Parts: sequence; C-alpha cells; structure tokens
Amino acid sequence: MKIILLGPPGAGKGTQAVKIAKEFDIPHISTGDIFRQNLRENTDLGKLAKEYMDKGLLVPDEVTNKIVENRLEKNDCQKGFLLDGYPRNVEQAEELDRFLQGKGIHLDCVLNIEVEKEALIERITGRRVCPNCGATYHIKTFPPAVDNVCDKCGAQLIQRSDDKLESIVKRLEVYESQTKPLIEHYTKKGILVNIDGNKSVEEVFEDIKKVLGDRG
Ligand code: AP5
Ligand code: ZN
Repeated sequence: MKIILLGPPGAGKGTQAVKIAKEFDIPHISTGDIFRQNLRENTDLGKLAKEYMDKGLLVPDEVTNKIVENRLEKNDCQKGFLLDGYPRNVEQAEELDRFLQGKGIHLDCVLNIEVEKEALIERITGRRVCPNCGATYHIKTFPPAVDNVCDKCGAQLIQRSDDKLESIVKRLEVYESQTKPLIEHYTKKGILVNIDGNKSVEEVFEDIKKVLGDRG
C-alpha cells in the first residue's frame, strides 16, 4: 500500500498514521516527526526547521523534498509507505509525482481527513506529546492514565512549541492557502477519498480500513 494522508493541522493524521502503519505493516513517514527528531538531536536541519515551525510556516521545499526522497529510497519502502504531512503544497506534490513516476511507483490512495475548524483548535491546544517516545495524547479525549505522564515510557508529557495559539492560527492559514489545493490535485488523479475525521479515533480508523481494504 502506498498512501498519503492529507488534512489540516490537528485532523488526526498522526494518530491514524500510527494505526494504519501497524495494520498494513508499512513505514510511517512524517516530515513533522523527522523535523522534531532533528530538533531534539540539535542537528543543523533541526535548527533550520525550528525557525519555520515555530512561526507556523513551511520548511523550504528543497530541504523537505530531499529528506522524503532519501527516505523513500530505503529498502523498507519497497513494500509500501504512508506519507503523513507530505506533500504540503502543489510544488511538493509535483516533485513527488516526478520522483514516483521516475521509479514506476503508483500511489494507491490519498486519504483526506476532514474536521471542523473549531474542533481542530480544541484538538491542537489539548494535545500533549511525549518528548521521549513521540506518543500523542489529548487532555480530554485521550488522557494518559497518570496526569502528564506517558503511559508507554513514563516520561513527562509536553506541549509542542508550535501548538501555541499564534502558531496554530498561522498553520491553519498556511493549510488553507497552500495545502488545501492538493485536494484538487489528487481528485483529478482519481485517488482521493474523503474521510470524516469528526468521529472518534476508532470510528475514523474503521472507516479508513474499509477504504483501504477495498483498494488493497
Ligand atoms: P506536522 O507535524 O505535520 O503537523 P500538522 O500537519 O500541523 O499536523 P499535527 O501534527 O498538528 O496534527 P495531526 O493531524 O497529526 O493530529 P494528531 O493526530 O496529532 O508539521 C509541523 C510543522 O512541520 C509544520 O507547521 C511545518 O513547519 C513543518 N512541516 C512538516 N511537514 C512539512 C512539509 N511537508 N513541508 C514543509 N514543512 C513541513 O491529533 C491532534 C490531537 O487530537 C491529539 O491530541 C489527538 O490525541 C487528538 N485526536 C486525534 N484524533 C482524534 C479524534 N478522532 N477525536 C478526538 N481527538 C482526536
Ligand atoms: Zn513516551
């Protein structure tokens, strides 16, 4: 399965991606996670990405495209992959089209997760993440067993630095102006499926499994 997950910030892409990757045994490639890992390791890429991420802006295409292409060249992507948060604008999508075409690879499906704007802000402001293992929680809808402590590894949970209100507003604007046009890009190719992301995590996952099951 070769899948792209599209959707606004906070739609639940990361949450669903973990489940899809496990169910279909494919690597989960999240550009946001790659940038955050580099940030934790204090690499040059991490420092560069932080400047853009904290402002809610996209990291430059030439940097992001190269990272994804290098990752897709790895052997484990031969059986399939799940791209989460990439492509993010028409230029990235066109570059990905060229790259995949050059390798004779066809995408199976683009899942577009749709969620009401008010719910997005609620989801992002309530999100807490584990700085150690990357697990994601929500203070209301998916709290850890012990307040602010990761169920999986025991680390103290934190809020992402781009989850403050100013960055969220900018990220939503960037989504509207730069990422939303990808819906048309992939609809034209006949591979886009809309998913109602307003439902519970499990219900959304069931809907996704049905769609992917029909295409697999
Ligand atoms: P990225 O990490 O990709 O962030 P994003 O797209 O803004 O998406 P989020 O991670 O905010 O949300 P999500 O949809 O994954 O939701 P989640 O599952 O966590 O990008 C961050 C930044 O990196 C960008 O702003 C940019 O600077 C840079 N970047 C990344 N990719 C780039 C690219 N290709 N090019 C250039 N720059 C790039 O869920 C959110 C919350 O809701 C959680 O708390 C979760 O528990 C909860 N939740 C999830 N589903 C449900 C549900 N169904 N019901 C109730 N609660 C739910
Ligand atoms: Zn953890």
